[in-house]
Amino acid sequence: MRSMTTTGRFITFEGGEGTGKSTQVRRLAERLRLHGFEVVETREPGGSPGAEAIRHLLLTGVAKPLGAEAEAMLFAAARDDHMTATVRPALSRGAWVICDRFIDSTRVYQGALGNVDPRLIRSLERLVVGPDMPDLTLVLDLDPNIGLTRVSKRGEGTNRFEDENLEYHKELRAAYRDIAEREPGRCVLIDADANEDVVAVRIWMAVSERLLRPLREKGERAAE
Ligand code: TYD
Repeated sequence: MRSMTTTGRFITFEGGEGTGKSTQVRRLAERLRLHGFEVVETREPGGSPGAEAIRHLLLTGVAKPLGAEAEAMLFAAARDDHMTATVRPALSRGAWVICDRFIDSTRVYQGALGNVDPRLIRSLERLVVGPDMPDLTLVLDLDPNIGLTRVSKRGEGTNRFEDENLEYHKELRAAYRDIAEREPGRCVLIDADANEDVVAVRIWMAVSERLLRPLREKGERAAE
């Protein structure tokens, strides 16, 4: 666990397709910068040169025939490079890291939906993430009918996971809600069925409450 006064914070965004994660990552980063923090915005799979190379294999579906277990290991290999090259160096110099998708995506897509043994997933987490778990995970929750409509309106083409059917995306949503419920210390479920500004306010409230207020309180105490 990072010290609450001297080092950066690690925030991850999770949720199904079209829930607005990328937009909200950008907005939160901008707002934190206005408060004087150094912020690193990153994403998974990717966020470092090695991980971006693996991203290509995963999202085009080249790795799909290998099975969900192999995909889970490839996501973990990408994450390992990302942690080493990007996340840990940023946190240790005191920056805040905001990551679009992280371990909960593996738990949900490869675990809950891909039937990969949770023991394998936990072992990979321990190996790759170790003590550097997110301080806060914002789970953006939205009806997949709305999310998938947003994705198709982007007109950017779809990836191997977005191509799955509606039932799959409903199960994804349920699996994310389940994680948020089981780990309330780390996760906050954000209702993403509202316009961008409203969702940004909900996120800011969660970040203020969970991370900024404790930081201020510690700072005040240290100054006393
Ligand atoms: P991306 O284009 O970044 O989609 P999004 O904008 O929805 O984040 O693609 C990432 C895809 O990879 C997404 O469909 C979820 C999937 N994924 C996994 O299946 N497991 C993982 O561990 C991660 C990080 C992503």
